[in-house]
Amino acid sequence: MSTFGTLFRVTTYGESHCASVGAIIDGCPPGLELSPADIQVQLTRRRPGQSNLTTPRNEKDLVQLQSGLEHGVTLGTPIGLLVKNEDQRPHDYTETDLYPRPSHADYTYLEKYGVKASSGGGRSSARETIGRVAAGAIAEKYLKLVYGIEIVAFVSSVGKVHLPSSHAPPSLVPSDDNEDNDDVHDALSPEFRTLLSTITREEVDKYMTRCPHPETSEKMTKRIIRAKEAQDSIGGTVTCVIRNVPSGLGEPVFDKFEATLAHAMLSIPATKAFEIGSGFKGTEVPGSKHNDPFVRREDGRLGTTTNWSGGVQGGITNGEDIYFRIGFKSPATISQPQDTAQYNGTPGSLAAKGRHDPCVVPRAVPIVEAMAAIVVMDQLLIQNSRKSAASLLPPITTLPPTMILPKSN
Ligand SMILES: Cc1cc2nc3c(=O)[nH]c(=O)nc-3n(C[C@H](O)[C@H](O)[C@H](O)COP(=O)(O)O)c2cc1C
Repeated sequence: MSTFGTLFRVTTYGESHCASVGAIIDGCPPGLELSPADIQVQLTRRRPGQSNLTTPRNEKDLVQLQSGLEHGVTLGTPIGLLVKNEDQRPHDYTETDLYPRPSHADYTYLEKYGVKASSGGGRSSARETIGRVAAGAIAEKYLKLVYGIEIVAFVSSVGKVHLPSSHAPPSLVPSDDNEDNDDVHDALSPEFRTLLSTITREEVDKYMTRCPHPETSEKMTKRIIRAKEAQDSIGGTVTCVIRNVPSGLGEPVFDKFEATLAHAMLSIPATKAFEIGSGFKGTEVPGSKHNDPFVRREDGRLGTTTNWSGGVQGGITNGEDIYFRIGFKSPATISQPQDTAQYNGTPGSLAAKGRHDPCVVPRAVPIVEAMAAIVVMDQLLIQNSRKSAASLLPPITTLPPTMILPKSN
């Protein structure tokens, strides 16, 4: 469906070449100061035509707020917003009238609905993510203001070019061949944890690739240009950190925090993989090294000395940094001829014309941040509503001490 969230509810609409794309955001708290500029900044980071590493489709993606606020303050009513599709080129992809693009959504949409948009990717196009990015920017404004929550995503790999082990998430750190060697502790390096706790969007945006490591970014640029020149494409991964999230978010058992996060991330077009914390690497680390020991923090609460868990245990946030990585495939639309079949089954060759991203990860960064913000916002509203309902009850004095959190001394 086109709606995500329970209390902070985002519905997006629009296809790649229709008049506009946008969203209705229901459940935004009233009284939040909000301007189009708060939203535009992330839409501009997402927009196409930013560099020679992205599609040349040229859109300014200027947001128009339609409802839900007056005098720059939210009313608590649904916020409607839209962005006009200006650089529309219906029938840009004429070959695709005959051929479903291999690994794109043309064939499956037609099989499912029996009818599909006449040009571009229709609803499956990344234009749809404009509504998400706008909604995420609204959520972020609240999260930052009220909780100091910060969300920063960056590109961690393009093809086989990875961040160096010292700065990479655990699963990007190669393992040695010795299956008797349990010493994989370095995979969660202090440098990576420092990167997670300090990285900013300004730093990420210094690089066209959005990989905040100069040498790696340069190699990534070359890799993307090589794909582009070969009329081909290449995939990559985006790593994201969410800082200052309070403990207690997530709705076990089916809506565990990481399950909802994975749902949100895997709904982004071109995603193929999601992992949180140690991810697949965690399977190689013995419990004695993978466990995150507890320690008392300055405020008296418990924290952990390591963070293989990625800030989530039992599906509930524990107050540590939440970090996760998403895998994006190589975009399907390539101009290089490919042997395939037409809709009617006739074999042939497709060389897709039109404008394509040779690699989506630089543009996916703000989309990942937006979906992360929407998840945190929704889970916060749910947990706050539970806490507020419980706070109205008379205090219970009869429970055995093992059932409640002891006061720290
Ligand atoms: C920011 C972004 C830009 C994209 N640009 C393209 C593109 O230019 N060409 C293309 O074939 N796919 C592109 N995609 C991916 C397609 O939308 C997606 O692969 C397609 O809808 C099929 O869906 P699936 O990959 O999720 O199965 C892009 C995805 C994102 C997130």
